[in-house]
Amino acid sequence: EGALDSTYIRNHIRTVPDWPEPGVQFRDITPLLQNPKTFRVLVDLFVHRYMDKQLDIVAGVDARGFILGAVVAYELNLGFVPIRKKGKLPFLTVQEEYELEYGSATVEIHTDACKPGDRVLLIDDLVATGGTMIAAAKLLTRIGAEVVEAAAIVDLPELGGSKLIRDLNIPLHTVCN
Ligand code: PRP
Ligand code: ADE
Repeated sequence: EGALDSTYIRNHIRTVPDWPEPGVQFRDITPLLQNPKTFRVLVDLFVHRYMDKQLDIVAGVDARGFILGAVVAYELNLGFVPIRKKGKLPFLTVQEEYELEYGSATVEIHTDACKPGDRVLLIDDLVATGGTMIAAAKLLTRIGAEVVEAAAIVDLPELGGSKLIRDLNIPLHTVCN
């Protein structure tokens, strides 16, 4: 993986100005997912990066992290666990509240989603303020899992999230910005 992949992926992400509110430059990954060639390139980048990392499970963040996370888990012959917005998981959960670029939210995970010591890959589509990824990593840590790496397609470094994540000693990988 290198500059060519990064440029290729970036060229298939659409920026929508002032959505969902004025001042937000929304990075829309739907063109990347819609095109079978770009979708495969994207999935394969992640699969190749993680195939020899002795992972036990993949966790994805509601909702856009489910799309890439589930496919990567399947290709790695691993199971998938959802980290969901509050009120969607039926069994025992732990919760973390966090702030994001346009509001606040709470995420949850089932307490039995991972076994203690499980090596987890955490996947979302994008890092902005980092609030979501940090909350998700905390949930995994609270249920005893080890976050081997947090990964996203896009980093928006000017929003500071990727620095915050790395300052918390959570390894972070992103494909483009
Ligand atoms: C978006 C995105 C990330 C998060 C990034 O999700 O998919 O999960 O925001 O922002 P942050 O780094 O500032 O936390 P959103 O909460 O909009 O929900 P969605 O996936 O349901 O669209
Ligand atoms: N989530 C938070 N900020 C975002 C942005 N600018 N584009 C897409 N998703 C986001």
